[in-house]
Amino acid sequence: MKIAIGNDHAAPELKLAVKAHLEDRGFEVTDVGCAAGERCDYPDKAAEVCALVTSGECQLGILICGTGLGMSYAANKIKGIRAACCSDYFSARLSREHNDANVLCFGARVVGEGTALDLVDIFIDTPFSGDERHQRRIDKITALEG
Ligand code: RB5
Repeated sequence: MKIAIGNDHAAPELKLAVKAHLEDRGFEVTDVGCAAGERCDYPDKAAEVCALVTSGECQLGILICGTGLGMSYAANKIKGIRAACCSDYFSARLSREHNDANVLCFGARVVGEGTALDLVDIFIDTPFSGDERHQRRIDKITALEG
């Protein structure tokens, strides 16, 4: 599985920790995030990661900013993206099982490294349930894209 990752200037260190963790697990990671010492606008990074996901080049995306909120607002504007901003494990699991989320967002000023890595593992390791009622609701979300 290929995973796209992006971050703004609030999260270069946490991004590196997540990237190293994913690579240790054997995933290929495409990193479009900003490096330590650089500054960038989170909507630009959200757009880059989401383009990799919607094109099929990467199967999942991870976006990290200060809170995870700005990244999720931007990502959810993009057709085909269901971005989950999570700081708890239950939400991370259900974002995949029920919502088939394809992008995980979290905040470097909200969660520590240990929690972040667990959120990432739960998100990646949990499949969509495939349940008809969940798919119906996802289809209704997609219909809202216009
Ligand atoms: C940048 O300072 C900060 O606003 C950003 O990282 C993020 O938290 C926005 O939602």
